[in-house]
Amino acid sequence: MKRKPIIAANWKMHMTPQETDEFLRSFNRLLGSRDVVDVVIAPPFVSLAAAADATRPSENIAIAAQNMSPEPAGAFTGEISARMIKELDCDYVILGHSERRTLFGETDDYIQRKVSAALDARIKPILCVGETLEERDANKLEEVLERQLRAGMKDVNRSRADDLVIAYEPVWAIGTGRTASAEQAQEAHAFIRKVLTELYDAEVAGQICIQYGGSVKPANIAELISQEDVDGALVGGASLEVDSFFGIIKGAEEHVRDTTA
Ligand code: 13P
Repeated sequence: MKRKPIIAANWKMHMTPQETDEFLRSFNRLLGSRDVVDVVIAPPFVSLAAAADATRPSENIAIAAQNMSPEPAGAFTGEISARMIKELDCDYVILGHSERRTLFGETDDYIQRKVSAALDARIKPILCVGETLEERDANKLEEVLERQLRAGMKDVNRSRADDLVIAYEPVWAIGTGRTASAEQAQEAHAFIRKVLTELYDAEVAGQICIQYGGSVKPANIAELISQEDVDGALVGGASLEVDSFFGIIKGAEEHVRDTTA
């Protein structure tokens, strides 16, 4: 079997603590004790505690923050540190999402500092990379991915590299209903794994989970995840309803069962 898939919900700026509690209690009942894929939920900061409480008895759902500061503590009004999210049971943190890059001006260098701070706190970064439509049209896909990866992983040595998850999210496919085709996703994921092989070696590159993100839904997960280098999904809109997020998990599970049967 290839890597164990990770299906993650990025709720963005949705879900109050109460909505988080309601969602996760019904989702947990549906999910039961299945363990074919790893499930991660990334609520907004204020809903992290509710998420941890609602999922606590089950070992099946991990919690992620959607962002964090690279600074350990200090006079940074409005910021949240790695230690703070760790105390709220976060095993993962999404870093470098394209919305952080484009709407909040986060640079490769700034994201790299966050990656290191997360790893130091024993939180697994989900490092997002991906090209805009202009960059793709200008044949800059590989250049952009390589720059984002090399910068983001600059201070990550070989022994820590497999704690990272990479999420390939083509910016033009986020929230647009336009998914990359399975071939486009595979091509980008294979390129990412090639860069990881150059940065580390084939063994480490073969262990790192590379998720696809961008308009993933129950109807397209099977085709995406059946690609050799696609190891899961980072889901926005379709993760906000229990049934559709569960449908994505079931779609991924069926694929894993088919390939291991
Ligand atoms: P959508 O699934 O809504 O396209 O969002 C993808 C995304 O940005 C996940 O991080």
